[in-house]
Amino acid sequence: MQEKINKYIKDIDSLDISSIEDTKIFHTKYLSKKGLLNQLFNEFKNLSVDQKREQGPLLNKLKKIIIDKSQELTNNHNDNSRQKSNKIDVTLPSSSEQLGALHPLSQVTRKIISIFERVGFITSDGPEIEDDWHNFSALNMPKNHPARDMQDTFFISIDPDMLLRTHTSSVQIRYMNQTKPPVRIISPGRVYRKEDISARANCFFHQIEGLYIDKDVNFADLKKMITYFLKSLFGDNVKTRFRPSFFPFTEPSAEVDIYWGLNSESDYRITKGTGWLEIMGCGMIDPNVLENVNINSKIYSGFAFGLGIERIAMLLYQIDDLRLFFENDIRFLKQF
Ligand code: DAH
Repeated sequence: MQEKINKYIKDIDSLDISSIEDTKIFHTKYLSKKGLLNQLFNEFKNLSVDQKREQGPLLNKLKKIIIDKSQELTNNHNDNSRQKSNKIDVTLPSSSEQLGALHPLSQVTRKIISIFERVGFITSDGPEIEDDWHNFSALNMPKNHPARDMQDTFFISIDPDMLLRTHTSSVQIRYMNQTKPPVRIISPGRVYRKEDISARANCFFHQIEGLYIDKDVNFADLKKMITYFLKSLFGDNVKTRFRPSFFPFTEPSAEVDIYWGLNSESDYRITKGTGWLEIMGCGMIDPNVLENVNINSKIYSGFAFGLGIERIAMLLYQIDDLRLFFENDIRFLKQF
């Protein structure tokens, strides 16, 4: 028996196994029920006490060698298969990553911001849940002022003084409260109005507010700034006009139109048959507003403007339904 055991030890030592098949054969040969190890232990039972004492350690040694080898083969095999699955085939064509993109409204907002940043404006924002003072009263729209009607408002039911801001003009007040002139800010953000949802209106949309205050600012400065902006956005050939208008927080006030053209049926529809398209409101800041935030209106003057981002995006990308911006249909968003 001793000879047999020594022969097996030698055999195992010189084994060179790499395939799974050979590993399986090894297991069956040595470790299965009728395998060599069990056969030896059966033989061992029949030995005399003295022989058992002599051969026992050798048999245990063989058992350990067989079990270690078996473990080693199993580990090798696991490593191999892991390596195989991790192997990179550099000749394969690369898989394309699905990249996200900025929402068209964000793209337009960034475009507008960068145009104003070039001439020294910085961005500033304010809260969407606003109080009556910042949204209305400080902007020269005291309680019961008829101009409030133009901006149908969502009030917060637990506090009638709080509301969802109806325009980004509220940020003007917040900024002027904190910062002394000169001021050059633009404030992009979401605004809310109690409107029925349609292709042309939504209960929330986005605006950009602009504010410029310094000594000796006049309407010519406003016109120059707005013209610079519209040329940067729509190209040098854009035709613009300023129309007298009314806003409680500016005096004088104007609305700015660009010439859209009257070539197609949709041009007629968009421009209501005039060829002109209203693009923003603006004006010289009413002295009352400046006094409301403790800026001396005898020393300082300024202008403000406000525009709808959806409106601009619809023009730039020829989109004729406002709701598309909010549905987040991937087929729509993918086009930008
Ligand atoms: N806040 C106005 C609106 O939402 C837009 C506006 C008009 C803003 C004139 C201004 C401005 O700053 O001067 O309809």
